[in-house]
Amino acid sequence: MGIIFEQVNYSYGNSHQEGPLGLRDVSLSLASGKFIAVLGASGSGKSTLLQHFNGILLPESGSVHILDYQLKPGDSGKGMSGLRKRVGLVFQFPEAQLFEDTVEKDICFGPLNFGVPLAEAKAQALRAVESLGLDAAILQRNPFQLSGGQMRKVAIATVLAADPDILVLDEPTATLDQASRQELLELLERLCKEQGKTIVLVTHRLEEALPYAEEYVVMHQGEAIFHGSPAELLSRTDLLSAAGMDVPPSVRFMQKFSARYGIDYPNGPYGIDQLADYIVSVHHAATAKE
Ligand SMILES: Nc1ncnc2c1ncn2[C@@H]1O[C@H](COP(=O)(O)OP(=O)(O)O)[C@@H](O)[C@H]1O
Ligand SMILES: [Mg+2]
Repeated sequence: MGIIFEQVNYSYGNSHQEGPLGLRDVSLSLASGKFIAVLGASGSGKSTLLQHFNGILLPESGSVHILDYQLKPGDSGKGMSGLRKRVGLVFQFPEAQLFEDTVEKDICFGPLNFGVPLAEAKAQALRAVESLGLDAAILQRNPFQLSGGQMRKVAIATVLAADPDILVLDEPTATLDQASRQELLELLERLCKEQGKTIVLVTHRLEEALPYAEEYVVMHQGEAIFHGSPAELLSRTDLLSAAGMDVPPSVRFMQKFSARYGIDYPNGPYGIDQLADYIVSVHHAATAKE
């Protein structure tokens, strides 16, 4: 098992004052090597959940088991650097953390800090940009002269350079245009399928996750109110509404289409492109019968 949360509670209070609730009694078991989406409205606890994945936050009660690590209340953080190499966390607006004058220096910064020799750090930087589908020439460019989508990818490359087993991304598609968003999601899917990495993607857009994610977690007021497959999620439109999310138009369309033509609602496809292909196949099957 990859990631197990056992009755994790977290609140942002301190010893003097009760603060906002972060997580309430979250128990989850997430498999390795999957593409997992974490959904929920703003303030539902998504970022708080993610920060428990690599020990940035520790549970106030309960425990988190991740890879060979166990995180408990009051842990000192010893041995956490090993965990952070294996669980890469990409914060929201990660490009805000770029600061060097070349992409290569920015990507090498982390590995060099972990004590990796310069030549090896440079090799890791090259692998990271290449696995993101970027040209090696980008390494010598100034990150601040790149487009928004490229900057975001470079920021992700800084995390990928350590070759983590689990890549956790907090709303990585926010503020990107439609084309860059799709490109980024396809790339994450490749990292999952081809390199076996576990991808945990936070998004408040169910629609963008639908073509990719194999498992969903829905957060609502600090609780994980759902964990399951896409088909299970889409059959629980009540949960989606409770969590403040709309049923995507592609799904509403599919539900109407299948009811209207008496076709069993299949377990997917859910994305717009896959849906179009599906309708063409239904049409072909129908005309072949005539
Ligand atoms: N650093 C913080 N200090 C105090 N409260 C916080 C902090 N970060 C988040 N919160 C509160 O915790 C709750 C969950 O927030 P968060 O995990 O950031 O939600 P999401 O990522 O789903 O928007 C919210 O009520 C939020 O206001
Ligand atoms: Mg957040």
